[in-house]
Amino acid sequence: IDELLAEGVAGKRVFVRADLNVPLDGATITDDGRIRAVLPTVKALADAGAKVVVASHLGRPKGAPDPAFSLASAAARLGELLGSAVAFATDTVGESARSTVAGLTDGQVAVIENLRFNAGETSKDDAERGAFADRLAELADLYVGDGFGAVHRKHASVYDLPARLPHAAGFLIATEVGVLKKLTEDVKRPYVVALGGAKVSDKLAVIDQLLGKADRILIGGGMAYTFLKAQGHEIGVSLLQEDQLPAVREYIERAEKTGVELVLPVDVLVSTGFPDLKAKAPTNPTTVTAGAIPGDQMGLDIGPESRKLYASKLADAGTVFWNGPMGVFEHPDYAEGTKAVAQALIDSPAFTVVGGGDSAAAVRLLGFDENAFGHISTGGGASLEYLEGKTLPGLAALEG
Ligand code: 3PG
Repeated sequence: IDELLAEGVAGKRVFVRADLNVPLDGATITDDGRIRAVLPTVKALADAGAKVVVASHLGRPKGAPDPAFSLASAAARLGELLGSAVAFATDTVGESARSTVAGLTDGQVAVIENLRFNAGETSKDDAERGAFADRLAELADLYVGDGFGAVHRKHASVYDLPARLPHAAGFLIATEVGVLKKLTEDVKRPYVVALGGAKVSDKLAVIDQLLGKADRILIGGGMAYTFLKAQGHEIGVSLLQEDQLPAVREYIERAEKTGVELVLPVDVLVSTGFPDLKAKAPTNPTTVTAGAIPGDQMGLDIGPESRKLYASKLADAGTVFWNGPMGVFEHPDYAEGTKAVAQALIDSPAFTVVGGGDSAAAVRLLGFDENAFGHISTGGGASLEYLEGKTLPGLAALEG
């Protein structure tokens, strides 16, 4: 983007592919981190006199307009953060988008509606995606890719559009890639990775890669129960990804052979069912040994001994990468595990990276100061796939 700015963007229409996929409660944004993350790029372009067209997906609508996934709230919030009015187009490439962009004056910003309201955005058919990209290209003279959270998607606005316009990476993508590159190249040891979240299947490939790179892997969250089961423990009615058991067994064996320390919870908080996240009524959880969860109980957070154990395993780290909450942090009864890991990262002198939309939102929602971490990535799947060493379509397209 520095080169584009140096060449001059005044009067040019610049398409900024952002990731404004923010968590919503109705029309209320519960965490605006991703909107704030793209501000430097949008501001720099607007200050340089560009007509800035910001575009993003939000959620997973089915290729047609759906008011529940409108970007209107995100556009309004972007305007508040910029301190200037932001125009909003109620479609992506239709009459509203064309006239909104045509009406922009130099330095003005517009947001167009959710790109996924058009089936061409996510289509697996190259021609269908290309046709949508052609129409998006008509809205702009230049393209800036800054939606780091979506660079792992081979979507029209991420992958096909930059091939149609002079393009550059925005400040956010440059920062994100710089930090993640450090984790793959010159990492300060011990390199400790804390992984949580619900699905083991989402993290399998990254665990596979990390077994050759990390010194210690701490497992928490819903995925811990598949690991405990693989070790032969009783997990009651806790979350289990049965089809992943063979892979997990193989990882446990490989960790032993390669000397990677794999740390699992020693105790967990259990209850008879998943808590109500809306009412947040007290559930009176009990603490049990991780290896012996009663048959009718569900593990929902790591327990107090595990919190101490995980904090001690993070204390001497040189580098920490954390992805995924340790428990159902959205309910106060099960937030302590995630809080303990966040606090351990803050207390540690290590270079700390928090990856993943959920973990990033968790640290902010739990009241932690985001500046206390080395880097909070806006990418969930994107940061994991980067660490897996995969080629990310949205980054490849910007290099081409
Ligand atoms: C994310 O939230 O990880 C990104 O915005 C990508 O969203 P997606 O998984 O729906 O493609």
